[in-house]
Amino acid sequence: MWKFFNDKAKDKKPYISLDMNNIPKHIGIIMDGNGRWAKERKLPRTMGHRAGVEAIRGIVKECDKIGVKYLTLYAFSTENWKRPKDEINALMRLLVEYLKKEIAELHENNVVVNTIGDISKLPRICQNELKNAYEKTKNNSGLILNLALNYGGRDEIVRAVKLLYKDIKEGKVLEEDIDEDTISNYLYTAGMPDPDLIIRPSGEKRLSNFLIWQCAYSEFWYSDIKWPDFNGECLHEAIYDFQNRDRRYGGIK
Ligand code: FPP
Repeated sequence: MWKFFNDKAKDKKPYISLDMNNIPKHIGIIMDGNGRWAKERKLPRTMGHRAGVEAIRGIVKECDKIGVKYLTLYAFSTENWKRPKDEINALMRLLVEYLKKEIAELHENNVVVNTIGDISKLPRICQNELKNAYEKTKNNSGLILNLALNYGGRDEIVRAVKLLYKDIKEGKVLEEDIDEDTISNYLYTAGMPDPDLIIRPSGEKRLSNFLIWQCAYSEFWYSDIKWPDFNGECLHEAIYDFQNRDRRYGGIK
């Protein structure tokens, strides 16, 4: 069982109730607003990221509780290397700290800790912790937590094209057999359903290179709340909104 995390659910009104037969299978979250959250409190940006990790803990627990099967968190993009060295180092340290601290409980709760993105460019200690986390949890059957690290949607597509090209050259794939599923199968998310719902807190309304192939028919939910303040209540609001959308996939109902 999950320990009581730092969500204040017990002090608040009950979460908006959801149709448990229509829970999104795959939710992607662009965890934005940590820096502004910290600035509003006259704290260093890294404190915003630290508070962001607390939000992760609550949301992982809540997603697991309501039966979300895949949760993909945009934790570090291919563009985030442009940030000051100190901030990058702090993010990498937080990642290691998170994995060391949480892995036992994630495992106990049947979560698979997976990564998408090119982690070979991360510091060795991060790579090791991520590999340990995956090895320990890969046979679990519960929530699949994808941490998107050094991840970029365009980079992912370039990588997929290169891998596909190699297989074509080696005669493993025939040109006439290439279809959309073929491309999907060369992405980091191969074998996973496309995200049903993409959540972006903090008031920005863009995709920022997140799951650009996979988002073709995802529903989007935006909110002004900054990621560190995003809690179970916000998650329920987003899912409730999702459940009231009319998904036509280009067709007519
Ligand atoms: C965006 O906020 C957030 C990030 C680039 C990093 C997200 C990382 C974490 C929540 C913690 C580390 C991750 C793990 C998996 C332990 P921002 O800094 O762009 O905020 P701003 O737009 O307000 O400046």
